[in-house]
Amino acid sequence: MGITMGLNLLLLVAMVATNILSLYHLSSTLHSPPPSSSPPIPPHLLHQLSTIRATISHLTRLHSPSTLNLTTPSDLLLYTHLSPIASACKNYPQMLHQYMNYTPFSTCPNDAFLAESLILRGCHPLPRRRCFSTTTTTTTLKTDPFAPLPENSVNWKLYTSCKSFTCLAKLKPEMGFDMKLEKTRFLEYKSELDLPISQLFELANNAKSVIRLGVDIGGGSGTFAAQMKLKNVSVVTTTMNLGAPYNEAVALRGLVPLHVPLQQRLPMFDGVVDLVRCGRAVNRWIPLTMLEFLLYDVDRVLRGGGYFFIDHFFSKSVDLGKVYAPLIGKLGYKKVKWAVSSKTDSNGIKNGEVYLTALLQKPLSK
Ligand SMILES: *[C@@H]1O[C@H](CO)[C@@H](O)[C@H](O)[C@H]1NC(C)=O
Ligand SMILES: *[C@@H]1O[C@H](CO)[C@@H](O)[C@H](O)[C@H]1NC(C)=O
Repeated sequence: MGITMGLNLLLLVAMVATNILSLYHLSSTLHSPPPSSSPPIPPHLLHQLSTIRATISHLTRLHSPSTLNLTTPSDLLLYTHLSPIASACKNYPQMLHQYMNYTPFSTCPNDAFLAESLILRGCHPLPRRRCFSTTTTTTTLKTDPFAPLPENSVNWKLYTSCKSFTCLAKLKPEMGFDMKLEKTRFLEYKSELDLPISQLFELANNAKSVIRLGVDIGGGSGTFAAQMKLKNVSVVTTTMNLGAPYNEAVALRGLVPLHVPLQQRLPMFDGVVDLVRCGRAVNRWIPLTMLEFLLYDVDRVLRGGGYFFIDHFFSKSVDLGKVYAPLIGKLGYKKVKWAVSSKTDSNGIKNGEVYLTALLQKPLSK
């Protein structure tokens, strides 16, 4: 199946949009090198920057609707033409075509996993569609974020291993669906890797810093946001439905789920939140460049004096010292807490892994 030139052009335009973050990152590194004797910018980054710039000038000269080749499947082109789609979409034309193969004005295909697979491959935003997604029965909703989750508010047909929250809670308690267990999380200090919420507030109070708004990146079923809600703090949770209805669970608890993958720019403006937490989802499995972009995006959304809470980040012990600690250090944040301890499960022991829990404070001005 051939993707035509016209579509490529559209995708290139979209690519430029999604590359603005890289451009911002790279040019800010170039224009305002951090104080002290910082190392020179590596040649591959300079090369990357000039490639992006060259693409942009090329597109400004070329961009004209008349160059579009309209032989692309009409449904795909019609809808992508109206809203931007991410550059990575071009690598998955078949999946994208399948996603756009639907009957307008009727019920959408049951394809939430296809959509998520595309999003996880960096194809985000997805093109929009004119169809109705299936809605489940609305049950009596509870205001308590730790109340048992109502079972019939999820399209369980999509899932194979379990067809209820009760089943998921029993299957693997650490998945975050056992509300009795969740109610105890983030409250106790069992090891130096823990930072209970009471301690977090104490540290912030002592620093005369207020915590009202937060983002929990990769927050699973939303328990951190739930505990913070009890403290009258609004926390939104980015979460994906990897094998379980995490987004639905967060929403059923009366919290805000953001269906946003880790590689996506956070949908918040610069300098607006008081706290960002990264849980275990952020770890050494994330490619280093991606992790670097994630850290700079955290910095972007945090206000001066805001806190970055790294909760149980795991990596190989040797990499923490050589790679991750220097990467985090580049942010120039104050280390309020920095605790490293061995990861003692079988994988941790096999790979010589450690956990890092840190609370870092962004300087008031940069
Ligand atoms: C559009 O693409 C088709 C097949 O890919 C090709 O045969 C045709 O010549 C193209 N038209 C233009 C105007 O480029
Ligand atoms: C949260 O707000 C409610 C209503 O204003 C108040 O009664 C409660 O004490 C607050 N809780 C905390 C932990 O501040």
